[in-house]
Amino acid sequence: MKKLFAIISLTLVFSLIIGITASAESGYAYNEEVLAGFAPKWDAIQADDTVISVSVGAAQGELRFAWLSSEADTDVSFKISGKTDMTDSKTIAVSTEKCDGYNSNKVTVSGLEEGKTYYYSYTENGVWSNPEKITVQPDENFTVLFVSDAQIGRSGEETEREVLIRDTCGWDYTVNKMLAEYPDAAFAISAGDQFQSPDSIPQMKAYLAPEKLRSLPVANTIGNHDDGASLYGDIFNNPNEVNELLADEAGTGYFYTYGDALFITVNSNNSFMFDTAKVIRTAVNTYPDAKWRILTMHHNPYSASLSDDDFSEERLYFSSLIDCYDIDLVLSGHDHFYSRTAVMNGGEKADEGTVYIQSSSASGSNYDPLPETLPDYTVTAFDVRVPTYTAFTFTDNAIIGTTYRTDTDAVVDSFEIADNESNSNANIFSVAISFIKTLFSMI
Ligand SMILES: [Fe+2]
Repeated sequence: MKKLFAIISLTLVFSLIIGITASAESGYAYNEEVLAGFAPKWDAIQADDTVISVSVGAAQGELRFAWLSSEADTDVSFKISGKTDMTDSKTIAVSTEKCDGYNSNKVTVSGLEEGKTYYYSYTENGVWSNPEKITVQPDENFTVLFVSDAQIGRSGEETEREVLIRDTCGWDYTVNKMLAEYPDAAFAISAGDQFQSPDSIPQMKAYLAPEKLRSLPVANTIGNHDDGASLYGDIFNNPNEVNELLADEAGTGYFYTYGDALFITVNSNNSFMFDTAKVIRTAVNTYPDAKWRILTMHHNPYSASLSDDDFSEERLYFSSLIDCYDIDLVLSGHDHFYSRTAVMNGGEKADEGTVYIQSSSASGSNYDPLPETLPDYTVTAFDVRVPTYTAFTFTDNAIIGTTYRTDTDAVVDSFEIADNESNSNANIFSVAISFIKTLFSMI
């Protein structure tokens, strides 16, 4: 029996190793030993129907949670405590919405204190989960981790167990690497395409599988692989969502603040400029004095895949708005390689304006090759075929960015972004001028 088990195990490991090299476009940072240690957890990951997501709050001191449950589970509860044994816990009201085949449960907890560690627990069929812990990080000199395109299931046919295991192992490895380097990160930003199929619950469970995500708020983004289905909106509990005329089934843009920084997330699949302008305008009007303005959108208006005179809607529409509202930093993904631009304004390199950073694959599930010729606005772009992540530390004078490859932990890019001083609040005339300026830069 032991011999049979050994043969089965060897076959599984062998098939997983074959799987790693099955796609020329994928590439992972972990070794066989890491994969062999991760694979046995897979059945438990997929059996967990109520895995919880932690999203960023509207500001420091707020945390937002979401999880799915069976339609038959009608009495769902959530509690949070400052003590490990959950004594003196506070029960928080759960907002439950019936979805297609399951319930979506959401909780918002506010009034949490900086530097304090909390423990939270929730029920499944009346049974309380094991408490998870999370610490409210300082909002001065804080660090935000940036990734994109974990896209669990991308490295092959998404119904294949081996594909999901190897992609999830890659994502788990990146999360572990980031938090080993930055254990006190305030939160993480994912610039979209969290999983391959927008309605895949197994892939959603895989994305939320890393155990450290129970203790790390994440601001997720609607990518082209997230729109067209409600699952993104059912499993992530985003703050300050803005009503959009052409809102996608997945959700809308949203915003939040942390310290002196305002973070805005838009759905770049929605090319209706009015909607994007409304999200940015609402955010800026709510926090007009924020020192830093950071925008996350899945598609990069200044990707190295585009050209200096590219006529894409991302360049024309989105960058016009970005210029108008004095955004300091734009975070994107989608093209599956890393790039950073010069300071851009009005379609040209400038002394004051916006830096565009594009992250590569967070899991290793897919990479795209660099174009043969890079546009003039690209300062650096590389495709190292292992997952990378960027840490942004917000200081009084600058946002300090450091990008790492996850196999060697080597720094592959480092830079500083200075405050662009002005914080304009655009109106329809300034948007029109910005649009025309960008248009002329393309001609
Ligand atoms: Fe994408």
